[in-house]
Amino acid sequence: MQPIHGGVQRTDWLAPPFSPHIGTMTKITKAALLLAVAALSGQAQQYTKNGDLVMPKDYRDWVFLSSSVSMSYPEEGPGGHAMFGNLFVQPAARKQFENTGTWPDKTVLLMELRGVGGASTDSFLNKDAQFQTEIMGYEAHVKDSTRGGWAFYFIPKDSASGKPFDKTAKCFSCHADHGAVDTTFVQYYPTLVAAAKKHGTYKERNKH
Ligand code: HEC
Repeated sequence: MQPIHGGVQRTDWLAPPFSPHIGTMTKITKAALLLAVAALSGQAQQYTKNGDLVMPKDYRDWVFLSSSVSMSYPEEGPGGHAMFGNLFVQPAARKQFENTGTWPDKTVLLMELRGVGGASTDSFLNKDAQFQTEIMGYEAHVKDSTRGGWAFYFIPKDSASGKPFDKTAKCFSCHADHGAVDTTFVQYYPTLVAAAKKHGTYKERNKH
């Protein structure tokens, strides 16, 4: 037999001592799979007894969809000043969106709201520079068929949960009238637009 790399015989690579490890690997893979399934089911939203949305603590491990600035509206959350919105969604919901062009039941879209800093605080910056500062609170848009479909919540900063908005709140009408997919503003989340168009779920813009 031809010696390969440093005189190791090809047969050495296939020798039996490796097979017990392959067995161990299978066990490890199974355990990892079970953990993954547990993690996935852990991503579904939870509610308090009053029907408030429990703050999803691990949202920073979710998929980041987009950032926007000064796109909040007077009737929303803390209001009154410009804020950044960083939008996150559970990995499983994003995957489903890629496959179907719409959101599955139990989707949570969580918007982290942050203050805006700029040259007025850090004078060496460009005069138009804007950067993100402290957390101001969270808004959530949650799809749950057991609660009549989509609902909106505001979770104050450092709170364990947040209250739902009334079905008559403007959140519902603006999102229904202007959101490109299933009452969500996919037109502003560039990484999702192609999937929605491919699956024919993209509602052409209604800008007014
Ligand atoms: C006048 C229109 C308008 C109203 C009213 C409105 N939104 Fe939105 N909302 C938007 C737009 C535009 C976006 C797109 C992205 C952004 O703001 O960064 C958005 C995005 C969101 C998102 C991200 C997920 C999604 O659905 O696209 C959440 C969560 C959200 N809004 C919550 C709320 C809540 C809560 C209220 C009511 C208290 C509300 N919005 C009222 C226009 C509106």
